Amino acid sequence: MVDAAENALIRRLIRAGADSDDEIDALLKDVGLSEVARVLVDEVRFRCPEPANTAPVDVALDLTHGGERHSATLRVVRDEPVRLVAEESAKVRSRITFTAAGLLRRLFGPVDSPRTGDFHNTFMPTPEDPGQLRELLGEMDTVLRAAAQATATLTAGCTGRAPELGELSIRYGSDKWASFHWYTAHYERHFARYRDQPVRVLEIGIGGFEDDLGGGSLKMWKRYFPRGTVFGLDLYDKTSLSEPRLTALVGDQNDPDFLTELAREHGPFDIVIDDGSHLNEHVRTSFRALFPHVRPGGLYVVEDLQTAYYSDFGGSPGGVAGPDTSLGLVKELIDDLHHREHRDPTVTNPTPTQSSVVGVHAYHNIVFVEKGTNGEDTLPRWMDADVWTALGAK
Ligand SMILES: C[S@@+](CC[C@H](N)C(=O)[O-])C[C@H]1O[C@@H](n2cnc3c(N)ncnc32)[C@H](O)[C@@H]1O
Repeated sequence: MVDAAENALIRRLIRAGADSDDEIDALLKDVGLSEVARVLVDEVRFRCPEPANTAPVDVALDLTHGGERHSATLRVVRDEPVRLVAEESAKVRSRITFTAAGLLRRLFGPVDSPRTGDFHNTFMPTPEDPGQLRELLGEMDTVLRAAAQATATLTAGCTGRAPELGELSIRYGSDKWASFHWYTAHYERHFARYRDQPVRVLEIGIGGFEDDLGGGSLKMWKRYFPRGTVFGLDLYDKTSLSEPRLTALVGDQNDPDFLTELAREHGPFDIVIDDGSHLNEHVRTSFRALFPHVRPGGLYVVEDLQTAYYSDFGGSPGGVAGPDTSLGLVKELIDDLHHREHRDPTVTNPTPTQSSVVGVHAYHNIVFVEKGTNGEDTLPRWMDADVWTALGAK
């Protein structure tokens, strides 16, 4: 679990990633280098790709601020998460030193901002003790390549830019790419513009099986949005997945009162993704409850629209998805988007979706609904043919 004070500190660091040198300096003075370093090192460990080296290698990650230095030693080896080890028991083969402000910007700053002069490294430092030097030279063949691989792993963990979503989906065990679904290319297209933003993302459906808690897609979103805060909702208790920038919540997506409470506490959201039960009734209930809590400019995504045709999910068998299905909702939203073109004079006050749906992008089994101000007017009345006819025009 991550407590409220820790979450508040992380949010502060995320905001500071886009701040000026003076503001970051003031934050470091206020919070202290070791507190900031603790959060940053944790984030680096999360972002490290799978280590390639089979022999364990210890890499030191030093952060400096003013005359102060904070050192963390990380053990890197294939098939294990990168972990902290006590400096006394470590054999440091490589040392990476960042200014604290530099690493803060790399991790939590806008992704492509220029980065220079914020780090240096020492690879395989020469031991002062001749005995240790002999030992090092003896191990050189095995250690050299492993040390380079471990250094590369840690350096990759220090950057904001993540691999593409398909790769992240495979890395963290989500099924959004190359298995049951081919969704990540669509996500890349629609999510790219939020990449640099401190977004709040809610995904319904955490996944997993009996001996696997799931959370693959939540980790994927956490890695993809370097400044993002991710929330996952599931019917089953998966709260032990919670970690910095990722909170697992328990509840039913078919309970509108619960969803409203959840959104009041953790929203508004920039992005909501429904990958829950895929029961048509649930999809519609969740949309009605949560779309009002999506920020203008945000997106609401529904996966697995195929269940609109499955009768055991409350869908319509046959070729036409009925009005009570998820695809019925999508068709309704397209009508809402065009409400100013309706020629039915009984429609005078636009509904919330009529006034706020500004785009409906449907692909095979997935839809992205864009929220904003649906303010485009219809053509002026004087262009209608009947007005012209009444005026006797040809
Ligand atoms: C397809 S899995 C989610 C996979 C995950 N999003 C991923 O990409 O790795 C669907 C999840 O929805 C959850 N679920 C089913 N019914 C639900 C409900 N009524 N409310 C909330 N979650 C529900 C299930 O427990 C399951 O974990």
